[in-house]
Amino acid sequence: MKCKDLITIADLLPSDIEEIFNVTRELKEWHNKGYDEKCLSGKILGMIFEKSSMRTRVSFEVAMAQLGGHAIYLTQTDINLGKREAVKDGARVLSRYVNGIAIRTFAQETIQELARYATVPVINALSDSFHPCQALTDLYTIKEKFGTLSNLKIVFVGDGNNVARSLAQICAKLGLRLHIASPKGYELTPDFISKTKQMAEGIETIHLYQEPKEAAEKANILYTDTWISMGQEAEAETRKKAFSGFQINSELLKVAKDDVKVMHCLPAHRGEEITDEIIDGTHSIVYDQAENRLHVEKALLKLLLRK
Ligand code: CP
Ligand code: NVA
Repeated sequence: MKCKDLITIADLLPSDIEEIFNVTRELKEWHNKGYDEKCLSGKILGMIFEKSSMRTRVSFEVAMAQLGGHAIYLTQTDINLGKREAVKDGARVLSRYVNGIAIRTFAQETIQELARYATVPVINALSDSFHPCQALTDLYTIKEKFGTLSNLKIVFVGDGNNVARSLAQICAKLGLRLHIASPKGYELTPDFISKTKQMAEGIETIHLYQEPKEAAEKANILYTDTWISMGQEAEAETRKKAFSGFQINSELLKVAKDDVKVMHCLPAHRGEEITDEIIDGTHSIVYDQAENRLHVEKALLKLLLRK
């Protein structure tokens, strides 16, 4: 893997994604046999979190510990990046202390600026625009469950948000199709779609629908995320109205393949984008998906931080 940072999936070549998946599989197998390679011994990851997190924060911290390194959790109260000091100063100073930085923030531009001035790798741990670590985990999980990524109908039902954008990018990079059903006004934007199509080198990678049932027809994978992302709390009521009907429930599963797998990046809002029956049911692979965040991030850290 040649890139210094992981800012979006666009930074990766298809061969980088394959390498991440191969290292993930190896590290996961070793871990399950009771062995963790201490390849990051003495390395420190700085983790800047300006939004809440459970999976990302814990999986990165555990990943560093299992690989022999250490992580430092920094909230906005601690460093107040961009306000107490310029992002570029934060980038330059942190680079003198730590071997890599993971950042969860609002604006994608903050992560871009941090990466421009940091001499150590910067990993996007979620922004308003993208969630690349999630998308890598999602496709790894699909490959693990189905044994292949070919000839699968992957359907996302919900907001054209950070999770959907990164999912669309990774599908494009891997030459796969993504079927996405969103309410009017909450779709992936035409500009994003045209840039993503360029990554797919010719295939019609994104298929948009306004009807979840139409998108879900014969789906192998049904994926959803919250209707209200972090930072959109003020729009909650409008969004709940717009998204009603965009739920993964037993009715929707009837049109999908009999052995459809259901995915969710979590946290889930039970009774909104997904029902209890489905997330707790036999089609759900959401907790395996969540576990894989750890294994995929271990691979990412190994490949980016040991240079
Ligand atoms: N899926 C995910 O990123 O979860 P957290 O927000 O808890 O990190
Ligand atoms: N779209 C959600 C994802 C959380 C992991 C959010 O940004 O809040």
